[in-house]
Amino acid sequence: MIPVAKTQNDDLLFESLPERVPRHIAIIMDGNGRWAKSRGLPRTEGHRYGTENLRRTLKSCVEFGVEILTIYAFSTENWSRPPLEVRMLMRILEMVIDRELKELHENGVQIRHIGEMEGIAPVLQKKIQYACDYTKDNTRLILNVAFNYGGRDEIVHAVRRIMQDGFAPEQVTEDLISRYLYTCGLPDPDLIIRTSGELRVSNFLIWQGAYSEYYATPAYWPDFDKEELRKALVEYGQRKRRFGKTDEQLESEDE
Ligand code: IPE
Ligand code: IPE
Ligand code: MG
Repeated sequence: MIPVAKTQNDDLLFESLPERVPRHIAIIMDGNGRWAKSRGLPRTEGHRYGTENLRRTLKSCVEFGVEILTIYAFSTENWSRPPLEVRMLMRILEMVIDRELKELHENGVQIRHIGEMEGIAPVLQKKIQYACDYTKDNTRLILNVAFNYGGRDEIVHAVRRIMQDGFAPEQVTEDLISRYLYTCGLPDPDLIIRTSGELRVSNFLIWQGAYSEYYATPAYWPDFDKEELRKALVEYGQRKRRFGKTDEQLESEDE
């Protein structure tokens, strides 16, 4: 077990983490609406608190030594929400970029967008592109923002581009498809966390998550704090990732 770095304002002094920390964590940040409702607040307040929480989570990920964090911020299915809420979610991403970009850059965060740009308002598209370009040389943590993202949509786009590029059927391999996904060049997520107690994938990283460990917590996203993240990492550390093999094979590989 590795002692977690002691920081000021940190109640978790000397708490410990397993040695095997996931390199890539993906989070389905769910439950903002129910969090707000339980406090008698409008859903949009839940989304606002959700973005505050993102700051904390990023910091914790850096402290815990996570290299890549992928967050599900807006799905291709979320366009079906009431127009006012959709507008608000667009506005929130815009505000987060305006407010946080400088600090994220100073903290070495490289921002990437995964999802379809088409459909997003041109002004917001430009902001997203600017944030990605501005932070592209940072190496401390890669933050993939899944916005207007759908796993099926991603595969459809990959197949279209593979066909446009003229590949022959026998050239189509798992590796080729991976290279045509938005996550090209990145390792698959080791751990996918979903908050708010839901036990479904909701079209998130359906290709990349083929062998990810899943972790669900009843905590709503605005309440998912460093201790919650630590619990997820501890559980991940106890999981046995077999990748189709037997325990005996894994044990002999370890020797
Ligand atoms: C997650 O919270 C944020 C987005 C999907 C954009 P929800 O808005 O889904 O919150 P619940 O699930 O209704 O509580
Ligand atoms: C998944 O949450 C999408 C994001 C967190 C952005 P939803 O709240 O949209 O998922 P469903 O509709 O309950 O499956
Ligand atoms: Mg939800």
